[in-house]
Amino acid sequence: MPVPKSNLYPDFNIVRLSHVEFMVTDLAASKAFYADTLGLQISYEDSETVFLRALEERNHHCIILRKGQKAEANVLGFKVYDEQELDKAEIYFKEKGLPSEWIERPHQGRTLRTQDLHGIPLEFYARMNQLDPIHQQYKLYKGVRPLRIDHFNCFSTNVDESVAFYNDLGFRVTEYTEDEESKKLWAAWMHRKGGVHDMAFTNGRGPRLHHTAFWVPNPLAIIDLLDLMSTTGYLENIERGPGRHGISNAFFLYIRDPDGHRIEIYCSDYMTVDPDLEPIKWDLKDPQRQTLWGAPAPRSWFEEGTTFANTEISDSQLAAQPIVAP
Ligand SMILES: [Fe+2]
Repeated sequence: MPVPKSNLYPDFNIVRLSHVEFMVTDLAASKAFYADTLGLQISYEDSETVFLRALEERNHHCIILRKGQKAEANVLGFKVYDEQELDKAEIYFKEKGLPSEWIERPHQGRTLRTQDLHGIPLEFYARMNQLDPIHQQYKLYKGVRPLRIDHFNCFSTNVDESVAFYNDLGFRVTEYTEDEESKKLWAAWMHRKGGVHDMAFTNGRGPRLHHTAFWVPNPLAIIDLLDLMSTTGYLENIERGPGRHGISNAFFLYIRDPDGHRIEIYCSDYMTVDPDLEPIKWDLKDPQRQTLWGAPAPRSWFEEGTTFANTEISDSQLAAQPIVAP
């Protein structure tokens, strides 16, 4: 199917992606990875959880690590414009026939829990506890100097369906690849906040979370992280890169946390706020779409991902090909 026309006036106003909650099997090991090595800042911790934020963020958290038996993702979080938009969101998901409920979440205001059409657990809120700015406290900058959460990328068994669903929510497609034979979408990148994406979908066994990305100041921060990881026991956690993507034009590195959750370190994509911005189509056979410099990705990167808690997964409806990008 062709990319749908952007819905510039969705039923409720999503500002941006906000946070992810990971189940981790060794909380201390995960804390060491995210706080000591990557440089995210701890905003709250107890014996079961660690809440972290990046250096530009005033919101209380962009990632929650929760101790558990199985490494999976509990939820993807999104921020809406205000409380009124949150009420509109409840009406929207109920009309769609999707399960939705109000839940209590620490450090967040009213939170609506629901799911997308394929079962990805989602939560929406308008207000999160606000913390003091730390972006000019340079003594805190360490690791890869993460500034903010940037995007999620998920495996989808039917990318056309995922794109139609998120398009209706007001996410706008910036770049995509299409299967030449079937004319079905193979992958698509969609945004709310004015970058290349808040959410991306790639054909594959799903739904699963392929990666969560953090924005960093520049490529040198990524080189510094590689030096740090390769000399502090994290050599095996470096999966792909560094490099520059064709799609998104961003500089990237993919790493795996101690449980295998994939994190992308990402910078230098471009602004997409124009409502009439035309999406860029890429040829599925063009190797530069993944890495502008041509280096291939390892097999693990095409096949492995994080399952969502209590969510069934199934095979893709399109034949498997090794295709994923930013
Ligand atoms: Fe990405």
